[in-house]
Amino acid sequence: MIKPEIRLDEMKREEVVEHLKQTVRPEEGVIPAFLLGDPTVYKLEHEKVFMKTWVFLGHESEVPNNGDYLTRDLAGYSVIIARANDGVLRSFYNMCTHRGMKLCRADKGNKSQFTCPYHGFNFKNTGELIGVPLQKNIYGGQLDFDKLALHEVTIDTYKGLIFGTWNDNPEPLKEFLGDFTWYLDMVVGRAEMEVLGPPQKFVVHSHWKIGADNFVSDSYHTMVTHGSIVQLGMVPNATYSKKGYQVHTKNGHGGNIGMPNPDFAFLEELIPEYKKNLSPEQFDVMSNVKNIIGTIFPNLSCLVSHTSVKGQLISNTTLRLWKPIAHDKMEVITWFLVEKDAPEEWKKRSRESYILTFSPSGIFEQDDTEVFTDITATATGVVPYAKNFNYNYTMGMHRTPVTDFPGPGVVYDDKFSEAGSRNYYRYWLDMMGR
Ligand SMILES: [Fe+2]
Repeated sequence: MIKPEIRLDEMKREEVVEHLKQTVRPEEGVIPAFLLGDPTVYKLEHEKVFMKTWVFLGHESEVPNNGDYLTRDLAGYSVIIARANDGVLRSFYNMCTHRGMKLCRADKGNKSQFTCPYHGFNFKNTGELIGVPLQKNIYGGQLDFDKLALHEVTIDTYKGLIFGTWNDNPEPLKEFLGDFTWYLDMVVGRAEMEVLGPPQKFVVHSHWKIGADNFVSDSYHTMVTHGSIVQLGMVPNATYSKKGYQVHTKNGHGGNIGMPNPDFAFLEELIPEYKKNLSPEQFDVMSNVKNIIGTIFPNLSCLVSHTSVKGQLISNTTLRLWKPIAHDKMEVITWFLVEKDAPEEWKKRSRESYILTFSPSGIFEQDDTEVFTDITATATGVVPYAKNFNYNYTMGMHRTPVTDFPGPGVVYDDKFSEAGSRNYYRYWLDMMGR
């Protein structure tokens, strides 16, 4: 074992990896605190995780029409996502191929061409270079337009979710998502879904993995962190959040399914559409859920939650990205999704339900981010690493998965377990060691 008196930033990369292999022990429920506060680990995981895996970029309903485009962040690099006039969605590195200027500075819009603000090079939204000011005169007609096409970025979609990757040889997206799609379908594939409004963005002084880990398995915190909702009578009792199932699948994905629910939290009139898009088993589970909380490795989380608005149960569906900015800072980006064919009144109420609970003004979001900030503070600096301070992730290690749940993966019959987090860190460590 490398002695902890050698600082991580003084080690060679292979030594850092070796130190991680020796100190991160998910099978034993041992996760070192420095993983959430150390700049060297942060830098290495950018290279080993974010540059290799699929990263969520947005939803297809954000670019429904030909000419629509978005600019988004793929592992720290700006990319353009554009639907060209042929209806095909493509992505490009947001850089003019002439001299490197950021080609598009808007968040979103609609146009068929992008013109570089530096020298005016003009690109079609298919990536082709089509115009260069004075080119016949100043390049003598010799400029190779084909070679100057925009750099295309690999993207793929699953049920409207757009992911991108810098990996030249990635595992196909569908395979990467694996069995977790069975659960994800209930969140984003139960009906045609649309994003309402632009995503909300807010910066939190928190390490990014805390959010991902919270959503992959931690329903245990709700009875304390969110204890005020019990006092307010919004949920019946403190162990309300224990009931249901915890599931994890390969590649670190996982989540919690809150069940049962005596009421139907979705739209009665869309039941035929739900049944068309889901298997009978998926529909049965969905009909009975209170909430679905999950994380797709590494940093996309999803949430179906509900509140009772004027006596009617209204679900709300959101996606959230824990975008790393620094070892102790992240940007949280949240997308609100709703059934496209829902009545306007339902859409409005569902959005209100989301704003009351999550989003920057939501009671749960504020409870959580305060905790995330303080965990980051205790993980940061020399002490947690030098003193070998570890977290305890042993909850539920004594339990055996159930075999009678209709969905795939490793499933436990209540939500209070850290099995999903152990699975998440197992895959994280696997990627860091490659
Ligand atoms: Fe929470």
